[in-house]
Amino acid sequence: MTIRMNLGEDSYDILVERGSLADVDKHLNLDRRVLVVTDSGVPAQYAKTVADKCKDAVIMTVEMGEGSKSLEVFGKLLQTMLEHGFSRKDCVVAVGGGVVGDLAGFAASAYMRGIDFYNIPTTLLSQIDSSIGGKTAINFDGVKNIVGAFYQPKKVIIDPELLKTLPARQISNGLAEAIKMSLTSDKELFDIFEAKDIEDNIDEIIIRSLNVKKNVVEQDEKETGLRKILNFGHTIGHGIESSEDLSELYHGECVALGMIPMCSEEIRERVINVLKKCSLYRILDYDWDRITKAAFHDKKADGDTVSVTTVKEVGSFEIKTMKCLDVIELAKISLEGLK
Ligand SMILES: NC(=O)c1ccc[n+]([C@@H]2O[C@H](COP(=O)([O-])OP(=O)(O)OC[C@H]3O[C@@H](n4cnc5c(N)ncnc54)[C@H](O)[C@@H]3O)[C@@H](O)[C@H]2O)c1
Ligand SMILES: [Zn+2]
Repeated sequence: MTIRMNLGEDSYDILVERGSLADVDKHLNLDRRVLVVTDSGVPAQYAKTVADKCKDAVIMTVEMGEGSKSLEVFGKLLQTMLEHGFSRKDCVVAVGGGVVGDLAGFAASAYMRGIDFYNIPTTLLSQIDSSIGGKTAINFDGVKNIVGAFYQPKKVIIDPELLKTLPARQISNGLAEAIKMSLTSDKELFDIFEAKDIEDNIDEIIIRSLNVKKNVVEQDEKETGLRKILNFGHTIGHGIESSEDLSELYHGECVALGMIPMCSEEIRERVINVLKKCSLYRILDYDWDRITKAAFHDKKADGDTVSVTTVKEVGSFEIKTMKCLDVIELAKISLEGLK
């Protein structure tokens, strides 16, 4: 199935198809120099499969983990392209999760002011979220995603087969973002989470999540308004993620908890049941001072108030301006009371 991203000159297709990695050359123009970027945690066979189909491929394997989204590694990618005589007509292919996609996409955007970029996301999170929307970035001076570009790929190839090697906890990490999209925008997707087997329905979960993100991004490519709904659960989620002692939690695991206070009491029980089903539910010993600091020290906090997305009924949302302290109070009440 192909999902078309309609972004004027920057439009592109997202192909979701089992087995598409194996015939990747049917979908991408690889008849040129290709920098295939992957990381040390992604099964090496995936990048090799792509490289074998290219006329002239260079595989670059960066160390797995957030640390590779650095100026240093970014520089290495550019250097590799320069050393191998990459021209404006050549391209970069990312084969990995959000780390590889963000890094490789940014390198493609910068080399010779922009060469073609293809993304082959291999984690659930990257397949449903980070690979579309055109945001690329690295971290700098300790600040996440602070240097980057809006740069759309020429095509995205999603092969759900690649998820079979992904650890269960990484699957849950991606599911958190899919649950997020169902809550604000797709009631039927939420029904799948509630009533059906997740693994059996993973392709549909991917496609429905992509469609939610597609609609949001098409309406708000540069994140000025609607795109805020993609931050549902993220204010408190970021707070939890950044409060030191809990930093071993994954992003999705924190967002999952961050969504609970932002749902109305009417639906909270159902949301919690879905989180339980996806191994995204836990009871923590929260440090509210730290969470408050971390939650509102980011760019989304606006003075004393913050713009948050709330969900009253599954599949719909409201964007509200709330006092930061009221958000924390709400989080305290709803998260401390959990059993
Ligand atoms: N650009 C965006 O819009 C956007 C949106 C959300 C997140 N992000 C970024 O994405 C990054 C997180 O992405 P992620 O969750 O994909 O993490 P990740 O890229 O670090 O991947 C998670 C781990 O899984 C391994 N892995 C990847 N694919 C695998 C596979 N098929 N089988 C086995 N192991 C595999 C990786 O080596 C890594 O160790 C963050 O840096 C975040 O800032 C970007
Ligand atoms: Zn997120």
